[in-house]
Parts: sequence; C-alpha cells; structure tokens
Amino acid sequence: MSFNSLQLKVTSALNNTTATAKKRMHEVCVLLENEIEYYNWVGFYFANHEQRTLHLETYVGEETDHTVIPFGKGICGQVAESNSNFVVPDVKAQDNYIACSITVKAEIVIPIFKDGKNIGQIDIDSNTPDPFTKEDERFLEWVCEQVAKIL
Ligand code: SME
Repeated sequence: MSFNSLQLKVTSALNNTTATAKKRMHEVCVLLENEIEYYNWVGFYFANHEQRTLHLETYVGEETDHTVIPFGKGICGQVAESNSNFVVPDVKAQDNYIACSITVKAEIVIPIFKDGKNIGQIDIDSNTPDPFTKEDERFLEWVCEQVAKIL
C-alpha cells in the first residue's frame, strides 16, 4: 500500500474519538505493521522527563523486555536526547544499541513533539537490511504530528 493511502487509514484510526488515545495509537501500529512489508515491529514510547526514561505505551510485533529505556541508552534513548530522527540501516554497526530480537536488521526512530517538546517517539524495527528511505522519514514524521494532536 502506498504511503498516501495509508495516510487516509491512519487519519481515520486517529480520529476515532470513541477509543482511548492508547487504543488509537495501537491501531496505527497495527496498520503500519500490516501494510508496510518491511515494518516488522512498530511501537510508541513516551518520555518521563523527571525520571529521564522512555516507557513503551503500545506496540505490534515480537514481545520485548525493553518496556522502560533510560534516556541516552540505545537508539530510542539517544533520540530522547537528540530530538532528531535516527535511521539505522544496519543495527550491527551501532555500539549504543539495545537488541530486541536477532531477526532485526534495521531500525528507525522518529521523535514526537508536542508544543515543541520531545514527548516520545515511534520506533520501527525491520528484518530487511537498509530498507528506510527519506519517504519513510517524511511519512513517519507526519504520523508523529498526527499522534501529537490527539494527546
Ligand atoms: N532497539 C531499540 C530498543 C527498542 S526495541 O527495538 C523494541 C534501541 O536500541 O533503542
């Protein structure tokens, strides 16, 4: 499915005001994991700025032990501090990386901003090496902007 068609589905999932924000974000995880062949684990982490930790809110994919990640640790923890997208074409080339599954080859993490503050992120793992393009980044930035609106 093209990113354009997927945008319509994401919009409709997020506009479902009868569901909680968590449920709506979960629906976005389901859509992304189902529709993009190389998105194999899709989850949302949110920051606790006092504790400087990220907390897994909802996800689709293999179960993970990493439900709480300290700022600075792994790809996710680095994005909590850098406020920038982090595209990892080859996870093996990263020193500061938290492995969740041996099948994962690549990862992309895009921060979510609310009122200018980095409040969380979308994290996607891929079992395909080097699959992410600028198109993925632009699409996922858009997803993060839409998610921020319902929070
Ligand atoms: N690989 C991530 C940890 C989260 S899992 O991908 C679900 C990282 O290095 O931060």
